[in-house]
Amino acid sequence: MIRTDPETPDVYLTPVEDVFVRNHLGPHPRLDTDTWSLSVEGLVERPLRLDFRALEGLSQTRFTAVHECFGNPLHPTVPTRAVTNVEWTGVPLAEVLELAGPRPEARHVWLEGADRGDFAGESGLSFLKDLPLAEARAEVVLAHGMNGEPLRPDHGYPVRAVAPRMFGTNSVKWLTRIVLAAERPEHVFTTRLYTRVLPGESVVRPVREKDVCSKLLAPKDGGTVPAGVRELAGYAWSSGEVTAVEVAVDDGDWLPAELERRGPHPSWQRFRLRHHLAPGPHRIRCRAVDAAGRVQPLTGDRNAVHEIRVTALVNG
Ligand code: MTE
Repeated sequence: MIRTDPETPDVYLTPVEDVFVRNHLGPHPRLDTDTWSLSVEGLVERPLRLDFRALEGLSQTRFTAVHECFGNPLHPTVPTRAVTNVEWTGVPLAEVLELAGPRPEARHVWLEGADRGDFAGESGLSFLKDLPLAEARAEVVLAHGMNGEPLRPDHGYPVRAVAPRMFGTNSVKWLTRIVLAAERPEHVFTTRLYTRVLPGESVVRPVREKDVCSKLLAPKDGGTVPAGVRELAGYAWSSGEVTAVEVAVDDGDWLPAELERRGPHPSWQRFRLRHHLAPGPHRIRCRAVDAAGRVQPLTGDRNAVHEIRVTALVNG
């Protein structure tokens, strides 16, 4: 079940009720903190099962991160703008791995949720993802809080994984099982869907790190504004820091916008440009560049340059 995107609100932290919900396997499973447990198994010295109280007893971290859906895996060329900025609270996965003691042959971490259902012609599926052990250890958090409140049922209550630099598909909800393995799992959500060939490459890779992207939020797409000097503003984000955003009005040059620094958390960065809009219709575009030198493509990809249309009115 893939629901439609709500409009991204123009606020730094997205209220929980505005965060998109992506449930592939039907309604959320019914779990609670009294009965939930997480097993850590496979290539570990000490297989373990943690309950919610044990998880709360481990060291906690809190950070803000962009939470972005990669888009419908069955329609890989359709752009998506389902993106939010959320504060998560939880336990670094590294803490839990430390308790279990990965064996030297362990290379991959499999993360499995408690939901079960059918998708893309396959039935009786679980939602399973995997990450290289080193990356999972460095960044994944087992989150139980979202914007200072317990996770809501649709967002993975009581515990989900969050991989802050990666697309949301890697952030497994209703997490109940972690397996350490020597190889990647063959599964509809790991090797069949959510894979892609990056521009300039020929290898098929799993969808992981977010792409560089930006979105214009003001003025509102399709709306009217008073003619004159207006603020053209929005947010930019990537798996690393965004280093520049440019804005173009109609067929004019790409102009550098003012851009906030990212700070210590992988959150989105606001950009703005004050620009004179003459009376009449306008096309406004924005494009971001990140620290790795990646630039948003003009067309043809999910993170293609965002474009809005507005009309400036003389007596607006
Ligand atoms: N985890 C489970 N167990 N089941 C799912 O269907 N969907 C994934 C990911 N984790 C999913 C899941 C996808 S594709 C995305 S984009 C995010 O969860 C969405 O998280 P949200 O619904 O909390 O916004």
